[in-house]
Amino acid sequence: MSVAGRTVLVTGAGRGIGRAEALHLAAAGANVVVNDPGVEIDGRGGDAGVADAVVAEIRALGGRAVADTGNVADWEDAGRMVARAVDEFGDLHVVVNNAATEVNKGMERLAEDEFDDVVAVKLKGTFAVSHHAARHWRARFEAGERTDRAIVNTASGSGLLNPLPTQSNYAAANAAVAAMTTVHALELRRFGVRVNCVSPSMVRTRLTAGVPGERMTGPDVVAPVVTYLAGDGCPLTGQVLSVRGTSVAVNRGWSLGPRVESDEPWTVDALADAFDTVGVEVVDPFDALTTALGGALGLSRREDVEAVVNAQLDLPQN
Ligand SMILES: NC(=O)c1ccc[n+]([C@@H]2O[C@H](COP(=O)([O-])OP(=O)(O)OC[C@H]3O[C@@H](n4cnc5c(N)ncnc54)[C@H](O)[C@@H]3O)[C@@H](O)[C@H]2O)c1
Repeated sequence: MSVAGRTVLVTGAGRGIGRAEALHLAAAGANVVVNDPGVEIDGRGGDAGVADAVVAEIRALGGRAVADTGNVADWEDAGRMVARAVDEFGDLHVVVNNAATEVNKGMERLAEDEFDDVVAVKLKGTFAVSHHAARHWRARFEAGERTDRAIVNTASGSGLLNPLPTQSNYAAANAAVAAMTTVHALELRRFGVRVNCVSPSMVRTRLTAGVPGERMTGPDVVAPVVTYLAGDGCPLTGQVLSVRGTSVAVNRGWSLGPRVESDEPWTVDALADAFDTVGVEVVDPFDALTTALGGALGLSRREDVEAVVNAQLDLPQN
């Protein structure tokens, strides 16, 4: 299982987790397209030097890389990234969809463009780059090539296990990326493409600079998992792997909990009675949040977590 000689496009590879992935893949012998427009956390601005710096680092270590400053949420840019990989290195074997932005606000304060833009980078960007890569791969498959190809998407604990208050846009987009991973794994197997997803948690980058917690890890912890999923011969497809420190867990997705059954279509009263009398145990969302993150916040009581979250939501926001 190896990425040696394979060409990998990593989006958002100029900083944080993506940068660590680009360096790890290059050290393992991959040709890397380092995509990053060098934007601010909220997607504004841009700095071509961010991608160039990672390319320089890789080359200084003897690796092969080129920079790309396209925006993953722009359909044409996404197509150009794929074409760039093929032009520079002869083929593209793996896409690592890692780019993301954040605008965190209580939902009643979140503006329309702040919702759309975050979803566009994470969700549409993942689709756009995957779409253009898949068109290239289908053409190669129909021309008779039989080569392992792979997509590695990036979701988040905020979206799967512990969607966070203030992250309507980000959490929803990350959950959608996990769902799309399954769809694309089903669709693309017929021409030899594996599609998996990593879901990091508690990694100290600029995205998490404001999140308290001593158990945060450096961005390097995700890279070996991505290089494994990118490797020729990796057997996995359709999987979402949660990565927290050195723990890597296969997600089982949504699963059914307690249920009530009826031979007849439910009436509202009958359903209310069934939930009451059968004693269906439902988990309060703040209990779930306390289980997922209370330890990191140093809080064990649900009431304390709820108070901290509500205080945060009611801080003045622009
Ligand atoms: N840090 C964590 O704890 C954590 C947890 C869960 C998931 N993630 C996910 O990991 C990935 C990387 O996050 P990070 O913490 O390294 O963030 P980061 O902000 O350090 O890096 C993200 C990079 O993406 C780039 N980017 C933004 N918009 C782009 C666009 N339109 N096109 C191309 N590139 C763009 C940025 O310029 C930036 O360099 C994201 O998908 C994020 O959702 C991170």
